[in-house]
Formats: sequence, structure tokens, C-alpha cells
Amino acid sequence: MKKTRLCDLLGIDYPVIQAPMNLITGAELASAVSNAGGLGVIGPNAGAREETNDVVETGERLRQQIRKTKSLTNKTFGVNLMCASTDLRPDSKPFSDQCTKVVVEEGVPVAVLAGDEPERYVKQLKGAGIKVLHRALPVNVEIAKRAEQSGIDAFIAVGFEGGGHTGFHRVPTFVLVPQVVDALQIPVIAGGGIVNGRSMAAALALGAEGVYIGTGFIVATECPAHQNVKWAIISASDTSTTTIAGLGGIVLRALKTPLIERCIQMEANGNATEEITKLYRSGYRKGMLEGDRERGTFIFGAGAGSIQELKSAGEIVKNIIEETEQILQTL
Ligand SMILES: Cc1cc2nc3c(=O)[nH]c(=O)nc-3n(C[C@H](O)[C@H](O)[C@H](O)COP(=O)(O)O)c2cc1C
Repeated sequence: MKKTRLCDLLGIDYPVIQAPMNLITGAELASAVSNAGGLGVIGPNAGAREETNDVVETGERLRQQIRKTKSLTNKTFGVNLMCASTDLRPDSKPFSDQCTKVVVEEGVPVAVLAGDEPERYVKQLKGAGIKVLHRALPVNVEIAKRAEQSGIDAFIAVGFEGGGHTGFHRVPTFVLVPQVVDALQIPVIAGGGIVNGRSMAAALALGAEGVYIGTGFIVATECPAHQNVKWAIISASDTSTTTIAGLGGIVLRALKTPLIERCIQMEANGNATEEITKLYRSGYRKGMLEGDRERGTFIFGAGAGSIQELKSAGEIVKNIIEETEQILQTL
């Protein structure tokens, strides 16, 4: 496949980025994606079964995952760092500061900054020779233009279809990506609902120079998400996921499970978003790692309806690239 500017920037063969996902994107998955020619990204609390409230321990856990990834691949990989303001994630800054310090100390090649304050870490990371990709949350064209000014290397635009938290502007991928591409000079990476070669070819046609895939990698053999979550993705339809507004108006997309239905009811009753956010967050580990569909949350995107098989991460990358090439030749 023809390389894009993103491939040259990151030194990767294929512009496929495995999106980071809390607790379920560790060294095994990230290294498998990088070994297949894409960019694997270590997510928050990677390799852990539980989050910790200890800032230093969070940083040391990350350091172990970075070292493990280095032992499993000699290719480029990334680490997700949160740059959320206190409106969106109160108390998260000390954790992000510590993880950024570890990323610099360990000489990680790429950082994926997610949130609404990229300027907080860009200078520090770039000064250490680290490439910075920024996933804006929330996202729209104006936010993308401002982010470009902060000195990031590439911008990740995730549409409303995406799994997990998406922006309160609720702009779908097909609408967001071409408009962001027109507004920026730097490479744009498209995310949200991209699961196969058809959606990757569409993203490239919209002007994106790479794709950002979360839900599509939950079904990877190397992803520690519970089998119940993987099977829920395989059996999902186009209408299986729903959205609810969380803290700061940020929207969560997830499978309609009983806990999420309760959140929707709370929303209708006018309960505070703090309360709703606390409830859905309480179900994350229970759902994603323990597979408890009754009391947990199964977080994934609307693209799940197009995913039919469990595969290794390497096969996922290979199949997407082969299908994309085939489509681009046929069109
Ligand atoms: C289960 C789950 C957990 C997520 N956790 C994080 C996270 O910790 N940090 C982050 O920046 N994005 C997180 N995301 C968002 C993804 O990185 C990405 O934006 C999204 O999955 C892309 O859309 P897709 O799921 O349609 O591929 C999460 C998404 C999912 C599905």
C-alpha cells in the first residue's frame, strides 16, 4: 500500500493505529500491532486488573509495560497520555504528569495525547524527541485548528460512532474528517467506526492519512477484554450501542446493558452528570475484564455491527490492509 505522510512521520509500514483503551491495551497487543506494521499503543492502566490511586505506582506500572513492549518488538510503538482539563477529569493531572515523566525517561517513540489541553505536554514531549499525536476530546474543526497551533505532529479526529468517550459536539466521522483535513496542514488520522478495509478506504478517500481503531482490536486474541465482551461485539447489530452524557458533557458510547439503561433513566430524570458518570465508571472493570453483562459496562463503538470474527492482532492488520488495497484498486 502507498505510504502516507503518517507512515514516514512514525516510521511504520501501514497507517493503522491501534487506539488505546483503559485496562485492555497492554504490551502484548501493542507489540503485536507494531510487529504487523501498524502502530500499537499502550493504554492507561495497561496490564493491570485494577486501577490504583497511587500516582507513583501508576507510573511504575506504565514503565514495566513500556519495557515489556520493548522486549516484544523493535518497531515503533506509542503510549497514551491523558491531557484532560479538570472539568473533564478532576484529579487526573498528577497521574498524567507522572506518566509523561516516565514516557520521557523511557524514550518512548510516540505519545498519543488524549483530551482538551494538549499544550500542557507538547513542548516537554517534543523536546525529548517524541512524536506527538493528539486525539482531541471534545472535537470539532475549531478545536482541531487550535490543537495544530500547539505544535502536535498529527491530529486524530474521532467521530461520534466511536467507542468509549466521544465529544459532546456529536459530529459523525464522515462529516468530521474531511472538514478537519481541509482545515489543517498536518496529517489527520480518522477514528470512530473504522473496522475493516471498506471503512479504511473510505477514511483515506475523505483525506485521512491514517486510521485509529479501538473496537476492531478488542476482538484481538492479544486483547485481555473478557470473552463475553468479544462475543457481544461479534453479535452486535447497527443499533446495539447507545450514548449517554457524562462529566463536562462528554458523551459515552457503549452497549445497551442494564447498567447503561439505568444511566439513561437517570439522565431522563435529570440526575447530575457526576452521579451518572460515577455509575457507568463503576461498571468498567466488571464489564470489560470480568464479562459481567448485568452489573458491568461493555464499552465499544457502533462499528461493532460489522465485526464478525475473533482474530489475532496481526491478522486484523493484514486483513484490513489487503482489503483496503483491493478496494482502492477496484474503485
Ligand atoms: C473500551 C474502550 C476504552 C477506551 N479507553 C480509552 C482510554 O483510556 N484513553 C483514550 O484516549 N481513549 C479511550 N477509548 C477511545 C479509543 O481510544 C478510540 O478513540 C475509539 O475506540 C475509536 O473508535 P472505535 O471504537 O469505533 O474504533 C476507549 C474506547 C473503548 C472502546
